[in-house]
Parts: sequence; structure tokens; C-alpha cells
Amino acid sequence: MRVTIKRFRDGKYKEETFTVEPKEGWTVLDVLFYIKENLDETLSYRVMCRSSVCGTCAVKVNGKHVLACKEHVSRFGNYLLIEPVDNLEPVKDLVVDHKMVVDRLRAGKVWFEERNYRGVDSPEGFNRIERQWDCIGCLICESVCPVFSERFGGPFLFTKIYRTVEDPRNSDPSSKYGFIVNFNITDCTHCNYCSIYCPKSCQPELAIRILEAKLRKEGLIEEKGDNLDFLSF
Ligand code: SF4
Ligand code: SF4
Ligand code: FES
Repeated sequence: MRVTIKRFRDGKYKEETFTVEPKEGWTVLDVLFYIKENLDETLSYRVMCRSSVCGTCAVKVNGKHVLACKEHVSRFGNYLLIEPVDNLEPVKDLVVDHKMVVDRLRAGKVWFEERNYRGVDSPEGFNRIERQWDCIGCLICESVCPVFSERFGGPFLFTKIYRTVEDPRNSDPSSKYGFIVNFNITDCTHCNYCSIYCPKSCQPELAIRILEAKLRKEGLIEEKGDNLDFLSF
């Protein structure tokens, strides 16, 4: 199998091709390990859990954003083009910088400032956030978002905020509303790419849709005329 890696070095990209014979069941990450251990020890990529839990190993393979440790190479045929993910600044080879996203989480205080344990035993409350709790922070949603920019918070950020706003333990969910408005949630085009590519099925687009509906109800963003009757608050 030919494996081409688009590497970022010294301020520019260059492509290098390696020959690898993958064993049965190998993932994209196994191929990267093989190259690093046998063909080029300077190759840089991110890895931690190797089991689709930590979210650190996202890359682009033959144009699709995936978790390298989750996807088997057999899915891609006889040729792999492995690239860094889109929309995030490259650092070295396949490693990209997560700082901008982490800074946004801090700026928005995306955590509970006060806890309220009443309602914790309500399954209905947790049903609303069950999917979003599975988010592993891989940032694939940010990488596939066509409007991701400095002014738009992005699907990962809004998924995290949704989780804190909707969690029954948060005693002051409306404290996050100003931050959501400032990060221009209405820039979302609802193309749904984030939900399609999310490896954990967290449905970021739905989270954004529900947050927008809440803000419209509060008069904090303009009415678009969407039919949101299916959302009950
Ligand atoms: S919402 Fe999905 S794609 Fe986005 S960071 Fe979380 S797990 Fe990754
Ligand atoms: S639905 Fe919105 S947030 Fe998700 S990828 Fe499309 S524009 Fe980005
Ligand atoms: S290495 Fe943790 S998700 Fe892939």
C-alpha cells in the first residue's frame, strides 16, 4: 500500500510517500506507528488512548476527517493520503494547535459556576444532554465546519455550552447566553456536516439549533422564522 503524508515543516507543506504492508485489522494509527518506528522516526502526530476516547488523533484521510485510531485502513482501498485536519493551525507534520479552542472554552467559562443538585435524579433532564456528554473534544466538527472563523464559536464550543446550559445541575444556565450571542451562533448555516462527521454522534448541529431557539425566545437574537415547534422547553 502507498501512503502519502502531507507534512507541515518549516512553514510549508510537503508530501512524502511511504510503502507499507498493513496487517489485517490495522487502523490508520497503526500505519502511522509503523512509519514512525520503521521508516521515519521524525514523523509527528498526536496519540494518547488508542481507543476512540481521548479525541486527540483526528486527521484527514483521503479527504475525510476521522479518528486515526478508530478507522481501519481496509476502508480506504490501496492508497492513503493522510493530512492534518482543516481549520486549525498546523504545528508540525500532522499535529495542529488546539489553543484557540481551549481559549474559547476558558473565555466562556464552559463549566458550572454554581451547582444545584435538585433534579439530578430526573432521567428526562439527562436525556437532553446524553449525546453531548459523549463529546471527546476531537475537534473534527470544527474542522469540517464551512463557517468556522474567529467570530463564530464553532460546533465544539456550542456543544460544550449546550451541555452546561441544559444540565439540570446548572443553577444559572442563562449566564452563558451573552457568550453564545457574542460568538455569533447565528452564523451557523445548519449544513449538518458537524453532526455527520462527529465520530461520537453528538449532534452538534442539533445543539446549536436548540440554543438558537432558546435565545430567540429570550429576544437575544433575531427571529429567522424557522419552525422550531418540535422543541419543547
Ligand atoms: S462534538 Fe463530536 S466531532 Fe465535535 S469535538 Fe465532540 S466528539 Fe468531536
Ligand atoms: S451545522 Fe453549523 S456548526 Fe455544523 S458544520 Fe454546518 S455551519 Fe458549522
Ligand atoms: S488516540 Fe485517543 S481518540 Fe484516538
